[in-house]
Amino acid sequence: MNNKSGFTSWISPSNIALVKYWGKKENQIPINPSISFTLKNCNSKTKVSYSQSNKGFNYEFFFHGKKKKSFNKKIDTFFKRIIQYCPSLNHLSLKIESENTFPHSSGIASSASAFSSLSLCIYEIEKIINENEKDFFNQSSIISRLGSGSASRSIYGPVAVWGKTKHFENSSDDYAIPVNNYHKIFNNYMDTILIVDHEKKDVSSSHGHELMNTHIFKVDRVNKAHENIGDLKKSLISGDLESFIHIVEQEALMLHALMMTSKTPYILFKPNTIQIVNEVWSFRKETNLNLCFTLDAGANVHLLYPKNEEIEIKTFIEQNLSKFCNNKKYIHDLIGDGPKPRNE
Ligand code: PMV
Repeated sequence: MNNKSGFTSWISPSNIALVKYWGKKENQIPINPSISFTLKNCNSKTKVSYSQSNKGFNYEFFFHGKKKKSFNKKIDTFFKRIIQYCPSLNHLSLKIESENTFPHSSGIASSASAFSSLSLCIYEIEKIINENEKDFFNQSSIISRLGSGSASRSIYGPVAVWGKTKHFENSSDDYAIPVNNYHKIFNNYMDTILIVDHEKKDVSSSHGHELMNTHIFKVDRVNKAHENIGDLKKSLISGDLESFIHIVEQEALMLHALMMTSKTPYILFKPNTIQIVNEVWSFRKETNLNLCFTLDAGANVHLLYPKNEEIEIKTFIEQNLSKFCNNKKYIHDLIGDGPKPRNE
């Protein structure tokens, strides 16, 4: 074993699912496969400084320079799950410093960017100390998954699949894989995130996943997700935006329909979410432009559109949709290439 101290540092993006991961088994194994666009501007930067410890593994966590005890439960669980992949941790003290590049309290889910950037830092340390030959990004995706399922996909850009499906060779429930074969219309595909609600949501994703265990539509949902992944793959390859839009919007509405029909039903979208959906549908009908929406487990709306329609659509967003956003706030992003190492 290398007797070293030092630091590792990564910047890693958030991602937006096109076919949604919703429901899991033990050990963060998804009940269905999912596919996502990796973002470019919504990132977490994480630096992990490490040194030899003679009292076993321990860590301190700082978020935007401040000790954040409220995150410790999630991070403790993460380290318990990953120790088998990163045995070098048993002899280390870590100082973890993390920050997001997107605004605080914007309601954007940060667990994908946070856990992927942390996992890349941790696995890099494992590689330095134990000098193993394993595939770095593959192992980082496995341990990211153990922090937050969707984080496994942020390891790769611009498109990633996580979960075993016959439609993607080499796909796995344990880690994500990159998708390289897609039409040029998806190069620099845009994602504008409309911040409808910046409050913490009432029901966590963890609870939502749990409710899928007993969901009356579980079997149909899982079958539909497999079918949608196959159909979406065809749209991505052919560049057929009509079918792309149909699947992406159906997935977004199905996610929320599942919440509304679970054993303890709940609703995460807000009146303004619905206003935006209706405006998008009217706009598409009037202009024939390829604007569509998707939703995460929250009230905010992701608007997806091709780069060559950017000018008209950005004007529409500013003039017709910004009024539905909290403090008129929205973030222009686009799909990106995935995480990058940093030297500070
Ligand atoms: O990774 P989690 O446990 O935060 O779950 C994410 C679930 C969705 O964002 C709703 C869908 C997805 O595939 O990202």
